[in-house]
Amino acid sequence: MTLALEKLINAAEGARERAYAPYSGFKVGAALATTEGRVYSGCNVENASFGLTVCAERVALFKAVSAGERDFAVLALVATSDDICPCGACLQVLAEFAPRLKLVLPSPGGYRETTLEELLPCAFRLTGHSPGETDPAGRAGHTLKNGGGGSNGW
Ligand code: THU
Repeated sequence: MTLALEKLINAAEGARERAYAPYSGFKVGAALATTEGRVYSGCNVENASFGLTVCAERVALFKAVSAGERDFAVLALVATSDDICPCGACLQVLAEFAPRLKLVLPSPGGYRETTLEELLPCAFRLTGHSPGETDPAGRAGHTLKNGGGGSNGW
């Protein structure tokens, strides 16, 4: 692991300490690095009306976007668990701006590196609208491969 990634994980750990999670007790910290190396961190912020809770990843991303950032390289995540993947809602929101984002996730005994495309290969895109980053050619899109139904007749 590079020093830059270790620093990003440290930033995520700092954010996790500021998590507001009195209901679940599950603290999450995220740190998002732009392609130019600026870092924005976020923690989960819960609410007594549980559905209003916002995940750490989205807090980090929204802080960055509202500061004028549009180009992201990598996101580091830490949590009360050593085996965590961002929720589907956060993956979709991250895909809006950074379909080729790299992620560094806690995994038993250390960290694992993956990509947004691996975790969410078919993010929703609104046809005819420009996403935050130009989509690279050759994405799978929304067409079901092999007919989509496997061998069960569907
Ligand atoms: N949470 C995150 O911050 N990020 C995720 O990707 C999944 C879940 C938070 C939301 C809530 O405060 C707590 O973890 C338990 O779901």
